[in-house]
Amino acid sequence: MAEVIIVDSAETAGRLVSDHIAEHLQITPEFVLGVATGSTPVPVYRALAQRKAREVDFSAAFAFALDEYVGLPEGHPQSYRAVIDREVTQPLGFDPTRVNVPDGRAEGIETAGERYEAALRASGGVNLQLLGIGTTGHIGFNEPGSSFGSLTRVKTLTEQTRADNARFFESLDEVPIHCVTQGLGTILRAHHLVLLAFGRGKAEAVAGAVEGPVTASMPGSAIQLHSHVTVVVDEAAASRLKHADYYRWAQEHKPAWQGL
Ligand code: GLP
Repeated sequence: MAEVIIVDSAETAGRLVSDHIAEHLQITPEFVLGVATGSTPVPVYRALAQRKAREVDFSAAFAFALDEYVGLPEGHPQSYRAVIDREVTQPLGFDPTRVNVPDGRAEGIETAGERYEAALRASGGVNLQLLGIGTTGHIGFNEPGSSFGSLTRVKTLTEQTRADNARFFESLDEVPIHCVTQGLGTILRAHHLVLLAFGRGKAEAVAGAVEGPVTASMPGSAIQLHSHVTVVVDEAAASRLKHADYYRWAQEHKPAWQGL
């Protein structure tokens, strides 16, 4: 089972996860960080950026994004390449040549998945993968029905996900219909999964992912198949968890040596 940590705010979650990443980075400067887009991981990036000058040096580290839209014009501010550049590469001081995002350009899209898998394999694998979760239960852009063995490939977004993400675009029509996303099988290869979720709107998806049946209808439930998963949620996102009291109890009695 995943370790579930219920915190008082997204900021607290950001500090907790950033502490852990910073510790690892000191030991392994060539750390491979799996980065997610969306609003959820932003508190982690902020906390890391704040401590950057003092203790964290990402210049030798690598980053791999989970997904990308297909067909947005190059440099589009909402392409995940641009988002990762703004929120991760620049503020944290990654070497841009070590930051990887799936190639969503229409030309050559047929091989984008294979090329990304090859780059991931060549990196030696993701050390820590940050994950958000969509209201459909998606991780990356693996919508309901995604195979647990799936690798990086082109997927069709659900109408729900397009509507959820329309807030970043001028209109719903501008939200791409397709994406390239790491598969659930790809994500499960990372050494450590850290899933974050905040707010009441994520409560059902979190409960489904952590406690629900393991089913392709709830792609987030794939985390139950992994041996090292940390779920960090605020009270609102934890509000549908059946075993919340146990998770709190386990945190209170957590052996000091365990870490995340
Ligand atoms: C997006 C991304 C996911 C993200 C999810 C939640 O569509 N592809 O990687 O986890 O939706 O987004 P947010 O964190 O903004 O709620």
